[in-house]
Amino acid sequence: MTAARKIIIDTDPGQDDALAILLALASPELEVLGITAVAGNVPLALTEKNARKVCELAGRPGTKVFAGAARPLLRDLVTAEEVHGRTGLDGPDLPEPQMPLQDRHAVDFIIETLLAHESGEVTLCPLGPLTNIALAIAREPRIVPRIGEIVLMGGGFFEGGNVTPSAEFNIYVDPHAADIVLRSGAPIVMMPLDVTHKALTTRKRVAALRDLGTKVGIAAAEMLDFFERFDEQKYGTDGGPLHDPCVIAYLLKPELFAGRLCNVAVETGSELTMGMTVVDWWRVTDRPQNALVMRDIDHDGFFALLTERLARL
Ligand code: BDR
Ligand code: CA
Repeated sequence: MTAARKIIIDTDPGQDDALAILLALASPELEVLGITAVAGNVPLALTEKNARKVCELAGRPGTKVFAGAARPLLRDLVTAEEVHGRTGLDGPDLPEPQMPLQDRHAVDFIIETLLAHESGEVTLCPLGPLTNIALAIAREPRIVPRIGEIVLMGGGFFEGGNVTPSAEFNIYVDPHAADIVLRSGAPIVMMPLDVTHKALTTRKRVAALRDLGTKVGIAAAEMLDFFERFDEQKYGTDGGPLHDPCVIAYLLKPELFAGRLCNVAVETGSELTMGMTVVDWWRVTDRPQNALVMRDIDHDGFFALLTERLARL
């Protein structure tokens, strides 16, 4: 068996972040070096706590969880309690975590880990606003050539935005951080709304998780039951989009996704379109091709993978 791929998950749990963490921890192909929390769906004090709750739910209390940035680089923090609930992880009744939060700051952990590994060995998986990643790049630019890949959930182009007509939440919350990351020169794979809006948590798919009958399967179903309620009303669909696990699924089975290498630039000037990801899909500019932008997903394959892996926990 080939060595497990080393990853750092940067996250703002969030029910869909939680499912992404569970998917990663359930998968032997991946070694989760650490989980770094950022403010996003809810404030940092809740996202770092939620990350620890999820590790304990997975039966992996030894996982290292670090707290990072409490607010975006320049703008005020925008949160999404209307989607995720007051705790950010509403739905299941999870106990207060017993495992400790690590002392080191998340940004220090990201920098030190990348510098301690060979170039290309560590992959970053951002599932929230890109504040921690941008801070790490700004503080220690020597990490950039060492990053294997940044596989991130964020942005939207053909599908528009979900928090404003033109912006997706993660990019909107910290557009300046997203700009730094997209201009960094690191290899980037982007999972935008164009993909995640095709990965719907239909009743049948949620029932398959619940029917696992395990603590994890039941908690996952309870999270999705809560999380999808808001999105079902918003989009008029059977189930809501399951965003963040797409990042982890890509690491496990890239063949589930299809996209195109092109330029992505982030709007940071206009209040009207703040945080819009402008994707040069048709390659009409000579701007550098800085991201592999995904557009399609084998959604049945994706949910089959998720269910099969969560059954292992
Ligand atoms: C993204 O925003 C958050 O609400 C989700 O966790 C996901 O990362 C989708 O726009
Ligand atoms: Ca998220």
